[in-house]
Amino acid sequence: MEKIRPSHAQPQAVLFDAYGTLFDVYSVGLAAEQLFPGRGEALSRLWRDKQIEYTHLVTASNDGAHYQPFWALTLASLRYTCKRLKLAPTPAQEQQLMNQYRHLSAFPENRDVLQALKARGIQTGILSNGDPEMLGIAVRSAGLEGLLDHVISVDAVRKYKTHPEAYALGEQATSLRAGQIAFVSSNSWDALAATWYGYQTLWVNRYDLPFEELGTQPVRTGSTLNDVLGFFPAE
Ligand code: LAC
Repeated sequence: MEKIRPSHAQPQAVLFDAYGTLFDVYSVGLAAEQLFPGRGEALSRLWRDKQIEYTHLVTASNDGAHYQPFWALTLASLRYTCKRLKLAPTPAQEQQLMNQYRHLSAFPENRDVLQALKARGIQTGILSNGDPEMLGIAVRSAGLEGLLDHVISVDAVRKYKTHPEAYALGEQATSLRAGQIAFVSSNSWDALAATWYGYQTLWVNRYDLPFEELGTQPVRTGSTLNDVLGFFPAE
């Protein structure tokens, strides 16, 4: 009989990253383009990169003493981005962009994939840097509430991914070991660090990007969330 290594046994839960994976962070680009014609794409890209840089910065420094919730870092990174691009939004425009971030578009395939997982009896959840309020609103706006067993925010440990305590929250919520859980992210750095942590990872490469060049590959690579179902071949 074929021996299945524990790390490649069929997962019993699937945890999703939120921003970039379930929710389209670049959808703010449209609103930004209306406010600042010709600059929307640059604004949304730099905003996203700076936001992630800030998460890593506060978690890596002084044992996390400078932690601020994701919403606060999102605002700080928007302000940095506008200064960097020499844009001067009014308070109302800034508010408009932040509101847009609260109600990001969900990728269209999300619902069907979550429904298919629930039909197979698999635990589902989000494991995200987002703070609980942001995640709650995003999940409700996308109509995904009934399809997620867990909405896990790293705010519980005040440490952002890629800190191991952030990834450990997924094991605690599901009462499973990382090797029994599929972790899905469109962010290559997140898929890499989750692989290092021990999750069975799927990197959803939505934008045809190269993977990180640090010597470790995700367990699986796909191009949409539908590829999650590859962990669960039909019996
Ligand atoms: C998150 C960020 C990494 O949702 O996208 O955790």
